[in-house]
Formats: sequence, C-alpha cells, structure tokens
Amino acid sequence: MRSHYCGQIDETLTGQEVSVAGWVHRRRDHGGVIFVDLRDREGLLQVVFDPDRPEIFAEAERLRSEYVLHVKGKVRKRPDGTINPNMKTGRIEVLATSLTTLNDSETPPFQYDQQVNEESRLKYRYLDLRREQMMGNLRLRHRVTRAMRNFLDNNGFVDVETPMLTRATPEGARDYIVPSRTHPGKFFALPQSPQIFKQLLMMSGLDRYYQIARCFRDEDLRADRQPEFTQLDIEMSFVDEKIVTDTMEGLVRSLFRDVMQIELPSPFPRMTYADALRRYGSDKPDLRIPLELIDVSDLMAGVEFKVFAGPANDPDGRVAALCLPGGGSLSRKEIDDYTTFVGRYGAKGLAYVKVNDVTSGKDGLQSPILKFLPDAAINGILKRTAAKNGDLIFFGADKARVVNDALGALRIKLGVDRGLVAKGWAPLWVIEFPMFEKDQQTGRWTSLHHPFTSPNTDDPQIVRDNPGTVLSRAYDMVLNGSEIGGGSIRIHDRAMQSAVFDLLSISKEEAEEKFGFLLRALTYGCPPHGGIAFGLDRMVMLMAGAESIRDVIAFPKTQSAHCPLTNAPGEVSAEQLKEAGIRVRLPRSE
Ligand code: AMO
Ligand code: AMP
Repeated sequence: MRSHYCGQIDETLTGQEVSVAGWVHRRRDHGGVIFVDLRDREGLLQVVFDPDRPEIFAEAERLRSEYVLHVKGKVRKRPDGTINPNMKTGRIEVLATSLTTLNDSETPPFQYDQQVNEESRLKYRYLDLRREQMMGNLRLRHRVTRAMRNFLDNNGFVDVETPMLTRATPEGARDYIVPSRTHPGKFFALPQSPQIFKQLLMMSGLDRYYQIARCFRDEDLRADRQPEFTQLDIEMSFVDEKIVTDTMEGLVRSLFRDVMQIELPSPFPRMTYADALRRYGSDKPDLRIPLELIDVSDLMAGVEFKVFAGPANDPDGRVAALCLPGGGSLSRKEIDDYTTFVGRYGAKGLAYVKVNDVTSGKDGLQSPILKFLPDAAINGILKRTAAKNGDLIFFGADKARVVNDALGALRIKLGVDRGLVAKGWAPLWVIEFPMFEKDQQTGRWTSLHHPFTSPNTDDPQIVRDNPGTVLSRAYDMVLNGSEIGGGSIRIHDRAMQSAVFDLLSISKEEAEEKFGFLLRALTYGCPPHGGIAFGLDRMVMLMAGAESIRDVIAFPKTQSAHCPLTNAPGEVSAEQLKEAGIRVRLPRSE
C-alpha cells in the first residue's frame, strides 16, 4: 500500500511518485486548494489537493481530523515563501493524484496540542499515543531495551523468564494476590521482583542472568512509581561489589552512548550512604545542584536557644545549615513559603540568617535568631559555610531524619527555583548502606534493601549482637537525583540467612513456610553471587526528559492504581468468585 512513511519524504524524492498512508492531522482550505497534513509515526507530510482533479477534490473536502487516508501523488518542491523550516518535510509537498479514505473518525475528544487532564489522556490512551512526543517516548524505550539486550548478550548474560504466579517476594511493598481456583482458599502473589528466582538460577550454575521483568507492588504511587513497572533485572555469580558495579556502569555508559550519543563520566563517583545523608540529606543526591548541608551541631551544643541546643545534644538529632549564594535577595514572603515547604517534611520551622556584610560580625547580619546566638557560634557558622555578602543561610534543627528530609528537599527546591541545576548527567553509586533500620513505631528491625542482602561481615553473631552498626554490601545507582537501580551481594550461607531472618523477626516456622525452598537451596552448593535491578521506566523517563514514568509506559495506571481505559480493576462474576472460593465483604464506608 505504501512506498514511504510520510515523515521520511524529502527533497531527494522530488519529481517521484509516492504512495503514503496515515491520519489527517490538519486540513486547511486555501481558496480552492485543500492542504492536508498527513501524519504517520515518522512525522507529517503536506498533501495538496487541486480542484483540477474534481473526483478526489470532492473527497478531500469531506476530510476531517483523524480520518485515515491512502494517498498517491508526486513529490514537488514547495514554492519559495511557503517553506516550513520547522518541519522535517517542510521543503516539499505531495500533489495528490489519488485519494482513498480508508476510515472516517469521530471528532477526537481532545486536540493534540491541548493540555488535557490525565484521566482523559489515559481513557483515550490510543489517541494520546498519537502525539509525536508520546510516540517518541515509546520508540526511545525500544531503543533502550535493544541496547540493553545487545550489551548483555555481548557480555555473556542469558535471558531467562521467571514466574508471575508465585509466592510473596519481600521487597517492602504489599503484594498483589491472585486466588487459585484449583486450590480454593489459596493465593498466588505476583512478584515484587524476580529476586529469589534469579538467586536460584545462580545456584543452578547459569552464572549470568538477565530479564526485562515486570514487577508488581501495591504501594503509595508517585510520579516515579507504578503498581506494575519494569526492571532490567540482573544477577552474576562469583563476583564482588566491584565486578558488579563496574559491569553495570559499562552497561549504563553504553546505553547513553548508543541511544543518546552522550558520554557519561568514567568511573562514576562512589559515595557512602552516611556521606550522602550528611552532605545532601538524601540517599539519592542530585549532584547537579551545588548546594550542600553543613553540620553545625557542635557549634550549637552550648547555646541557650533551645530549638538548636536540643537537637544538638540529642544523639539522634542534627543541626545543619544550608547556604544559598545570593539568597539575601529572597523576600519575606519567599522565606515564608520555603518555611511552609519544609513543614511538609516535618520541620517545625526554618531559621535563617541574611549575610549583608560578613566582616561586621552581628551588625552585618539580619535574622530573627541573632539575639539567641553568641558571637562564637555565629562566627563559627560564617566560617564553616564560607558565606559571602548577599548570601542567606537556612537552618534545620530536629531529629536527624527530619532535618535531612527537610533540608534535602529544600536543597532541590532552591536549586530548581534559583536556576542552579547544572545541565547534563550526574550519575553516582551510593554504597555502604546500613544493613537494618529500626521501625520507629514497632521497634522492630527491617532490612534497608531486602533480607537476602549480605552484611559486610561473615559472622552471623555480629549481625545478631550489633544489628544497628552493621553495614550491608548493597549499592544504588543514582542519576540526577533519581534512584535508577539498586542491588547487592547476596547471602550465600544458610547460617547467615537464618540470622538475618531471626533479626527481622521472621520466625523459624514462617521462614520455613515462606522461604524454605531458598534456605534448602543454600545448602546444595550455592556460589557467591550478587546483582542489581534497574528501574527501566525511570531510566527512560530521565532520558526522555519526561516528568512522570507514566509518560514512558504505553498503558499506565493513575495515582490511585486505576486504568481509565479498561476500567480495571473491575468486578468479577459470582461464578468466578465461587470457583475461587471467595466471598466479598466490602469495607463499611465511614
Ligand atoms: P529495588 O526494590 O530497589 O530492588 O528495585 C530496583 C529498581 O526498580 C525501580 N522501582 C520502581 N520503578 C517504578 N515503580 C515502582 N513502584 C518501583 N519500585 C522500584 C527503582 C529501583 O531502583 N530485587 C531488588 C534488586 C536486587 O537486589 O537485585 C529490587 O527489586 O528504580
Ligand atoms: P521561634 O522561637 O519558634 O519563633 O523560632 C525562631 C526561628 O527559628 C524562626 O525563624 C523559626 O522558623 C525557626 N525555627 C523554629 N523551629 C525550628 C527548627 N526545628 N529548625 C529550624 N528552624 C526552626
């Protein structure tokens, strides 16, 4: 039917007959001549219908947006003055000699250049995907997965599929569960990741595994989280952290080179978790923003100002400063807005000092808290932050977690608001995570990564005795402030795995019932192994410059995990419920 894609026709085809097919993007009636911008996945092409050919001209008059056409015609140069340099095919047009309308279209519910709410975009996703940008995102995603597969194939990785109907895989979210008809009262869980299966494949001797795997997590959704998302999942045997991280850096560098023609730094910087929190208040720091948190707890330990002295003397507390160059120009209203902003992260206030003249001591400063601070503390702050005239220093004082969350978020907001975000790509590895974290509410230990991650000791007793100080052999890859991948060297010893389950308050019976198969596998010659999983959606989102991973997923769900297109989740028939042995009792509405 077609000799060329619309978007591929250019001056080299001038004078030739072509045959194209696509959608009416726009139709303009220009005093007797009809112009149609015909669209296909490669772009737009201007087609001209001349009244000299009455039979097709009459049909052209009937055309409306999104009608589907098959057009034959001759490529000609556009007359001077009608060239459109913004269009790939803007130097030529096709004079139609034949027109077949393959299908009509209802008037679309929205225009492609219109801002449309997400509910409508998702309800009519097939139309939304007709936008050049969305089609571009899907094709970028394809180029990324193709480059991944090439790299991995060249490096000896084998693609293996793992089950979707399985048992719970503890990655920290709720499971999506599927009732079993053949085993009434029992349920499969959809995998939160292929974690356990890829470890079993290492025990089988596969040595290098990968899978572009769908994962399911019932958790609170955000711009970079979906209930079902895709990982590039990887596992390797007989490796340590260095081999895994070096190989994975190679992968990501090759992706950026192949897909974007961008050369990423080599090697990526490595930063410990402790340093990342201390300097950036975050375990996924955006290194494109030059601002850093500076500890001033020691300077505040002896001051009378309780707001600062309290956290400064609390082992779990922190007092930190964030100096904004040129921030002296912030208005009272702007400072109030930032105070409200940090309040969302639990901060009870946002103290600040404006630096007018750094050489004049207190007289050169402006701040509601000056009267509470002795000269020594103030001089110490100025020195440590290296503040200059015209700068503004913000302070956070609270539990370290609150200060890190609040000032870490403020750092990014200031970076964006003040145009301080450097162009380009800032990848890094975050390493040396704590192995466990104490849940504030329940007082129970939880894994920071997952329970199969190896501690950086071989001695299970150390894990039992000092869980709070043990570091793990986990690593996260961070790109421009987004966690794009995470992994670890795994436990390959049954005694250590049992110690970790014990610490996580997973009883022997529960461990046996849920992970008995893994514990057993560990006793049959398990090689040392480790791996990683990348969030494919997040990576493509960053590469596409998109705001949300929903823009790089063909058929995503809304923030409330609903699909407006298919209206899933939906009800099932009484018959289906009966077969699965399920009776539904809806929670009573409040
Ligand atoms: P983790 O849970 O860190 O590790 O997940 C790996 C990466 O997957 C992405 N990701 C998500 N993307 C979109 N929506 C979500 N809901 C979502 N959750 C996670 C992130 C993250 O870095 N089995 C381990 C990996 C391993 O140890 O090898 C795991 O799943 O980019
Ligand atoms: P107050 O004594 O509560 O009026 O606070 C004096 C200044 O300290 C105000 O600028 C508050 O915004 C700020 N402030 C109060 N609590 C905190 C806190 N936990 N961290 C940082 N600044 C604070």
